[in-house]
Amino acid sequence: MQPTDQPDILSLFPEGTTVVDGEIAVSGVRVSDLAAAYGTPAYLVDESALRKRIRHYRDGLSLRWPNSRVYFASKAFPATATYRVMSEEGLGIDVAGGGELVMALAGGADPRDILLHGNAKTDADLQMAIDAGVGLIIVDNLQEIEQLIALATGQQDVLVRVRPNVDAHTHEAMATGHGDSKFGMGVAEVSRALEIIEGSKNLRMRGLHVHIGSQVFDLGSFSESIKALSGLGDFDVYDLGGGLGERHTYDDPDVSVDDYLDAVTQAARDHLPAASRIILEPGRSLVARAGVTMYRIVNVKRDGKTLVAVDGGMADNLEVSLYGQRFEATISNRFDGDELVSVVGRHCETGDQLVDGVLLDQPAAGDLLLVPVTGAYCFTMANNYNGSLRLPVVFVSDGVPRLVVRRENYDDLLSRDVLAPRVRVDG
Ligand code: LLP
Repeated sequence: MQPTDQPDILSLFPEGTTVVDGEIAVSGVRVSDLAAAYGTPAYLVDESALRKRIRHYRDGLSLRWPNSRVYFASKAFPATATYRVMSEEGLGIDVAGGGELVMALAGGADPRDILLHGNAKTDADLQMAIDAGVGLIIVDNLQEIEQLIALATGQQDVLVRVRPNVDAHTHEAMATGHGDSKFGMGVAEVSRALEIIEGSKNLRMRGLHVHIGSQVFDLGSFSESIKALSGLGDFDVYDLGGGLGERHTYDDPDVSVDDYLDAVTQAARDHLPAASRIILEPGRSLVARAGVTMYRIVNVKRDGKTLVAVDGGMADNLEVSLYGQRFEATISNRFDGDELVSVVGRHCETGDQLVDGVLLDQPAAGDLLLVPVTGAYCFTMANNYNGSLRLPVVFVSDGVPRLVVRRENYDDLLSRDVLAPRVRVDG
């Protein structure tokens, strides 16, 4: 226990999470009440904590660099309700393709406040963005510039994505700034891109973009990537990407948003024009800590290593099996236990683990098990493995819960199947 007599695990829950009647309460609502109302498993989001984090980012950046804007990298949590919260708080929205664009517009984002990403944008993606009037298109390659010149009717503002050749020191699947990354253009090709854009009638060159990866704790890597932009000319706009890592476990580093903002704005002062506009596009570090996944324990095996099986798993959290991401977990009303267990999911493979090695207090079937820091990419990467139903999302704000995404049902599972009669194509 901490000196305040709060369980240590609360340091990973949404800021402001409390213990009420011996049980964790998200934004003031006991999780057993949420389980009774919405069932398990479910993604819970503390909307009050989320808004607080958004404002911290937004105000922290504008304080340090007034000519600036935070855009939400919406791939981290693409639910209409999240887009709406971000837009209400004045953030721009980063979309990667037509699907996220549709969701951003459904969430009320102003198209002028949207920027479009993608390393392989199709003509259809670009046409949708042009038709919607998105403010900025981040062009990834020379081919895409030609596509855009052919499609754009009015003036389209663009940024050029630079591959800075910087090691982000993160999981290799999440690094994007190294020399042979599939994203963006190497420094040599950038000058060719600028020539083509400047020679075109309908593209307006606004600046450069760089993004080195996700779950990055090394602030020096961000600074290096900003330095890599400095020799490429002076521009109005610099989008410095996202990627700040979030603490998921007790052992993870705790690099604060303030530390990060200090580092990037300092590097911008050192290497970029003072009058330029700075964009940041965080995803994970805006939403991760606001989210908690709530499971019910289905059974516990104690005939070897203790295995605690819950009613979800790799269909709602792929972070563990894809990237080896570690999480912590707790029973909702018993903390700081001493039984070392592995929390496993209900899906048909051994890789379906949620936490391998965590201390729980006498876990038993029927207990609610909570996994904090699941607000980023878990909802996004959810799937129907073993015919599992994707989870509902419940936002809780100052004691008031509301369902923002309903649980999938079995009709949803069958909804795309087409039961057409077989017809021979050869007549
Ligand atoms: N900007 C660009 C161009 C990006 O590609 C990304 C993330 C971000 C910003 C936001 O990065 P963040 O602040 O969230 O780290 N599927 C993985 C995450 C991949 C991140 C992809 N790009 C996962 O499930 O953890």
